[in-house]
Amino acid sequence: MKKPLLILVAGGSASGKSTVVTEILDKAGLEDVLILKHDDYYLDQSDLPLEVRYMTNYDHPSSLDNELLHKHLISLMQGKAIEKPVYDFVMHTRSKAIEHVVSKPIIIVEGILILENEQVRDLSDMNLFVELDDDTRFIRRMLRDMNERGRTLESIISQYERTVKPMYHKYIKPTKRFADVIIPNDRRHDIAVDLIVTKIKQILGERS
Ligand code: ADP
Ligand code: C5P
Ligand code: MG
Repeated sequence: MKKPLLILVAGGSASGKSTVVTEILDKAGLEDVLILKHDDYYLDQSDLPLEVRYMTNYDHPSSLDNELLHKHLISLMQGKAIEKPVYDFVMHTRSKAIEHVVSKPIIIVEGILILENEQVRDLSDMNLFVELDDDTRFIRRMLRDMNERGRTLESIISQYERTVKPMYHKYIKPTKRFADVIIPNDRRHDIAVDLIVTKIKQILGERS
């Protein structure tokens, strides 16, 4: 197997990372792709009471198990399978499930802080950052967290003010400087997507 192509996709919470990844793959007509979420690598907190888990700062780099992610990425880049943890947003910890994940020719990892860790960045072929203003992201996150992550409006607002917004400006936004392409998600970004698709095809061509 050829060395897989590794793409990292960062951006604030609800900036549109997952949506843009789907757009790129649709346009490129690529199907044999592994998409990983950095969220699955939040540290296991099952030994802590739920009240404590509610208060964890999930927007700080220290909340993520980057050592395990790095180890898993090395294995996947060598064509080996991994046993990936699965995160439970309702219980605020790793679920009991483990997923057997096989390597693919293209690996995409998305997450708010995926460009923050130098060791992880060093493995990557292409870095993307999805950009969207704070208020639109807040509205989209609020709707999603109420519908999909079992949250109340009060908890979403207090978490946003306490950690989500300040950590975005302190740790996430500065990683834009590591991006090869910044994708705007509040206006047309078809040219950015086209450029990315062309580059992906070029790298795959060179490796085949
Ligand atoms: P992320 O993966 O960065 O957290 P998502 O791709 O899940 O963000 O997008 C967050 C929410 O915003 C989802 O409900 C998605 O459907 C919506 N969304 C994403 N991009 C757009 C867009 N360009 N216009 C309208 N809604 C969007
Ligand atoms: O999908 P998205 O990029 O929005 O996921 C990252 C967000 O998930 C972070 O901003 C963090 O605040 C949130 N999170 C949470 N509760 C957890 C773990 C993460 O609200 N238990
Ligand atoms: Mg997402």
